[in-house]
Amino acid sequence: MADILIIDDDSDVSDMLVEMVTRMSHRPESSFTLKDARQKILANDYDVIFLDVRLPDGNGLDILPLIKDMSSVPEVIIITGHGDSDSAELAMKSGVWDFIQKPCSLSSMRLVLTRAIQYREKKGLATKPPVLLKKDNIIGNSPSLRACFDLVAQAAQSDINVLITGETGTGKELFARAIHDNSQRADKSFIVVDCAAMPDNLVESTLFGHEKGAFTGADRSREGLIKLAHRGTLFLDEIGELPPLIQKSFLRVLQEHRFRPIGSSGEEQSDFRLIAATNRKLDRMVANGQFRTDLLFRIQALTIELPPLRERKEDIKELTIHYLRKFCEGYGVAMKGVTPEFFDALTGYEWLGNVREFANAMDTAVCSALHEPTLYPKHLPTYLRVKLAHAALKETKKPVEPVLPGGGKIEEFTTLSSFRGDIIDEAERQYLVELIARTKNNVKEICRISGLSRSRLYALLKKHRLIKVKP
Ligand SMILES: Nc1ncnc2c1ncn2[C@@H]1O[C@H](COP(=O)(O)OP(=O)(O)OP(=O)(O)O)[C@@H](O)[C@H]1O
Ligand SMILES: [Mg+2]
Repeated sequence: MADILIIDDDSDVSDMLVEMVTRMSHRPESSFTLKDARQKILANDYDVIFLDVRLPDGNGLDILPLIKDMSSVPEVIIITGHGDSDSAELAMKSGVWDFIQKPCSLSSMRLVLTRAIQYREKKGLATKPPVLLKKDNIIGNSPSLRACFDLVAQAAQSDINVLITGETGTGKELFARAIHDNSQRADKSFIVVDCAAMPDNLVESTLFGHEKGAFTGADRSREGLIKLAHRGTLFLDEIGELPPLIQKSFLRVLQEHRFRPIGSSGEEQSDFRLIAATNRKLDRMVANGQFRTDLLFRIQALTIELPPLRERKEDIKELTIHYLRKFCEGYGVAMKGVTPEFFDALTGYEWLGNVREFANAMDTAVCSALHEPTLYPKHLPTYLRVKLAHAALKETKKPVEPVLPGGGKIEEFTTLSSFRGDIIDEAERQYLVELIARTKNNVKEICRISGLSRSRLYALLKKHRLIKVKP
């Protein structure tokens, strides 16, 4: 609901606006003189002010500086009679919202007011101070990650169930902890339940707990993880792996926050907040009858989809520095530099294991370069370099297409020798690319296998603008 001040001495216009504003569920107030308007402006906050130019005690525009100083910075809509349009235009230039000429229709008034209010609402949203998140251990600032931070902030401010999805290694657990750490439950437990790691026959007792003697081997009673999460957060990792029977009983726990430990006659309560995670497509599992629809609806009140690393390459620089520092410190060696080629390899790779794989690769690189000051691609894990080489090959490997010139148009036929030359050039290039990759850039090997002399090889590399091989 917005507060609207109508400054106009024409009671017909004023009454019409008061009625319109009231019907739009906003609060109107009216002033018929400049003097009264000044007092109202000094005493109250308004969202929008309708301002007539000709008022009995002066020019309405004289009040604009006072309006500009208001803490609520209202939008001003000028109402002008004939002959005032010049001054109204001047006012527009000084930043008023709009001006309307009398006689004005109700619908045009309504439209202008609606727009002004919508604009303020949007402006308010945009300038709302950002929630300060504690997320020191989450690296990255790409737009897609920032969108996730906003959702973390939203989740942390409430108790709604959250589902975090994303490929392996994208940080689902990390983000779940960030929600917990930023929530009001931060000083209580964060209980992790790895649904994929629990054998089916133990899931129930692990979650719900059991009494002594409830089943063979239950030589003492044990509290379940749901109980341990009381007043804290229950993180159900890989929720897609929850056996169907448990899905049903867990749905009830989610609805009522009550459960019965195995072998117990009474029910217990647990006030936990649920965060679930999965790297499986739960909606597909629902379609295949492997996951309950009602449970899916309940757990995904808010969904955070973590982007894979290959879709946020902007973050690779920050991740590189972070892990370089971490592992150099860990190995007790001085901070290392990286060559552009090393960085190119990091950004060119597709990181199917995401940040986890990235961290491992950096660990390997720092460890294998241990006392060398600079990292080169050769310090990266071999499997990764092989994949990169294959990918590069695929890219450069355009199939030799002996397409006839000109799609058959007689005038575009070249000489046979020129046609043959083009095809041989392409084949030559592919041969070299492949051989360089297979021999891991070993020039001696390349010369031995190809039968080329070293100088001929270098000439060909230059001709085809291929990478330098190791001498
Ligand atoms: N944005 C990030 N900044 C820093 N470290 C990260 C980030 N994302 C993930 N990691 C690190 O990568 C590793 C994997 O993260 P996490 O265990 O949260 O991934 P996950 O999505 O749960 O993977 P999985 O599906 O395999 O369980 C952890 O060591 C985590 O600290
Ligand atoms: Mg995980």
